[in-house]
Amino acid sequence: MFRSVARSAAGKHLLRRGYATESVPDRKVAVLGAAGGIGQPLALLMKLNPLVSRMALYDIANTPGVAADVSHVNTRSEVAGYVGEDQLKQALAGCDVVIIPAGVPRKPGMTRDDLFNINAGIVKGLCAAIAKYCPNALVNMISNPVNSTVPIAAEVFKKAGTYDEKKLFGVTTLDVVRAKTFYAGKAKVNVADVNVPVVGGHAGITILPLFSQATPKANLPEEDIKALTKRTQDGGTEVVEAKAGKGSATLSMAYAGAIFADACLKGLNGVPDVVECSFVQSTVTELPFFASKVRLGKNGVEEVMGLGPLSDYEQADHQSAELMPNSASMDHGGFLMGSS
Ligand code: NAD
Ligand code: LMR
Repeated sequence: MFRSVARSAAGKHLLRRGYATESVPDRKVAVLGAAGGIGQPLALLMKLNPLVSRMALYDIANTPGVAADVSHVNTRSEVAGYVGEDQLKQALAGCDVVIIPAGVPRKPGMTRDDLFNINAGIVKGLCAAIAKYCPNALVNMISNPVNSTVPIAAEVFKKAGTYDEKKLFGVTTLDVVRAKTFYAGKAKVNVADVNVPVVGGHAGITILPLFSQATPKANLPEEDIKALTKRTQDGGTEVVEAKAGKGSATLSMAYAGAIFADACLKGLNGVPDVVECSFVQSTVTELPFFASKVRLGKNGVEEVMGLGPLSDYEQADHQSAELMPNSASMDHGGFLMGSS
């Protein structure tokens, strides 16, 4: 076991002189599952974020090396690695944002629901620790199936008496990232200018990109919109098949996770008009959790925004999408009744 093995060389003295950090509040971010395929590049991207002052990299193995490596990057934050459950308390204490990519990824032929049995247990344990050691942190849930791991986290927090619906987020940013990329390619517009909301959930047809609201406008024919929608819905499977048994999206997910965590930090810091899509507790539909545009603020979710006008095609897709489609989702209550 090791404790806080890696500290960045930048002491307070150097921080003050080297970077203009005085006006930026201290923010601690933890990555749980930091030694994994997503965790490692996500740790690097969060190390590049000037809004972060402390980073805790936690995993059940291999965090000493990841933390030592990332800590040498000459940016603001101090990095500490934590390994094993007895160091989880130190990793979480004082956290403002906790990002969770801990859990197993898909292999070809699997659905995200096939991950439920293993990942539900992992998420349940980590959320119980968050409830104890940093109950006020914003939780960014990446572990799949997001449509189920987010309700599980909510139940764990409710049981602990710490649930705040404004602070729990399913990270669906990768769906937005994909929708933007695919739309820009088809519409032949600059990808950096593109905005596309993606609503619903994070599995197959529950992923509903709203290309009718995409900007810049391109007036694409319906068959192109259908093809773009399907490609966005199947984006995860496209990567799983291309990786041929070596896991699912890691690099694009790390990028998406870093964008979403950055938005959370900006909201906490009082930056106005920070809006991202996320899977949150919602009254936008009859479903208890739903992804839509969310305004982020000093307490997390400031406003869950509505769907806006839908095209006939999106309306039909929205009605046919079963957003909590699997028996796994339905089982999470029962699962939580089990032993701790
Ligand atoms: P990975 O196997 O490469 O890494 C997972 C890491 O989690 C490993 O380092 C492992 O040791 C760690 N881990 C396992 N149990 C843990 C525990 N109890 N506490 C802390 N860490 C623990 O997998 P990956 O490719 O990084 O994917 C991780 C998860 O993210 C998967 O469930 C995957 O399906 C999901 N994912 C979600 C999205 C999304 O859009 N939300 C995108 C891609 C992947
Ligand atoms: C993704 O969308 O890439 C992730 O949910 C991983 C997966 O299993 O598809």
